[in-house]
Amino acid sequence: MIKHGIKMSAMPAWGTRHDDATTWSMVAFLQKLPRMTPDGDKAIVAKAPPDQD
Ligand code: HEM
Repeated sequence: MIKHGIKMSAMPAWGTRHDDATTWSMVAFLQKLPRMTPDGDKAIVAKAPPDQD
């Protein structure tokens, strides 16, 4: 869904601008999001490579 978007909805296809590795990083982030605390979020951002969004 992230790569190709969802037809007839506002969901855009991010695959045109992001490679597969970045898209899988988004999937991992979305899976962790429901249990993430503000401090946990900051820790992930601090560990991310500088060139990752
Ligand atoms: C990096 C940013 C985004 C990510 C990672 C993302 C990811 C997703 C995912 C995984 C789904 C499927 C949810 C599910 O049903 O299980 C979804 C649905 C959707 N997204 Fe996004 N999304 C992003 C940004 C956006 C933006 C900017 C818009 C609109 C301006 C948008 C509009 C929608 C809509 C309308 C749906 C529901 C489509 C439907 O089932 O009818 N998304 N998105």
